[in-house]
Amino acid sequence: MKGRAEDGATRRFATPWALRQPAPCAMAAWQGKQGARGRINQGMSAIVQFENVGLRYGLDSETLSDVSFSLHGGGFYFLTGASGAGKTSLLKLLYLAQRPSRGVIRLFGEDVVTLPRKRLPGFRRRIGVVFQDFRLVSHLSAYDNIALPLRVAGMAESEIDASVSEMLNWVGLGDRGQARPATLSGGEQQRVAIARAVIARPEILVADEPTGNVDADMARRLLTLFEALNRLGTTIVVATHDLPLIGQVQGAQMMRLDKGRLSDPTGALRYPPRPQGVAVS
Ligand SMILES: Nc1ncnc2c1ncn2[C@@H]1O[C@H](COP(=O)(O)OP(=O)(O)OP(=O)(O)O)[C@@H](O)[C@H]1O
Ligand SMILES: [Mg+2]
Repeated sequence: MKGRAEDGATRRFATPWALRQPAPCAMAAWQGKQGARGRINQGMSAIVQFENVGLRYGLDSETLSDVSFSLHGGGFYFLTGASGAGKTSLLKLLYLAQRPSRGVIRLFGEDVVTLPRKRLPGFRRRIGVVFQDFRLVSHLSAYDNIALPLRVAGMAESEIDASVSEMLNWVGLGDRGQARPATLSGGEQQRVAIARAVIARPEILVADEPTGNVDADMARRLLTLFEALNRLGTTIVVATHDLPLIGQVQGAQMMRLDKGRLSDPTGALRYPPRPQGVAVS
């Protein structure tokens, strides 16, 4: 698999830490202030497009209806809405775990609804996912869970070790690398799940309530990690109920789902919302 070109994956997988040089340290490279976000935004194009998407589970009424929006490459988006509004369902469509019942979804400019099944893995590899229920591999240690995307990409073990060790430290689990998921707390499992999702620097990161099980300090720290990834050009989509968290990311955009419908289909609603009746210059 190493070096194989499929849907642009090679560029990323051949050197997952593309900005490793000259900084020897992955996180140092992540945190470099090279202004990547600015560069990306200059040529922003739609990386995700939903057009009149509907999703129905079985014979039930639609869980998602008439969902239309575009996400731009290098953007940082929050998805909010009450429990049961359809956030996880929308994210599943986005990371190709679910096909819509109707409508068009384009990822990286290609229609993924009609895409032959055999091409889906190539698209999925370009998307990092933090699942609401973590989905760690239970028989693998925290270290091996985080290393998984790099091993799948064929990276050398010597390089993997440096990246995984650093990522474990970053999420505050430097001494828990050998622990199995069942022996970790919910918050610790969540941090392993986040580390696994970001380690290969995906083009899109989709995170479903990624701070639901950690304290405010750790939530802030994890958000910093997402922002560092975003500065390197990754498009970030975070579903969360945590409104104060949303307020902490400058320039982020917010989409709100209300009973399966986007109340702000353009994704342009800013946080905090402007008070009603206040003129904006
Ligand atoms: N696999 C499924 N089969 C049938 N119904 C489902 C399935 N998954 C979700 N639903 C239903 O779809 C609706 C939206 O669920 P979803 O999990 O997308 O909401 P959510 O906004 O993520 O909620 P929460 O904030 O609680 O995570 C709910 O009514 C739920 O019961
Ligand atoms: Mg959910």
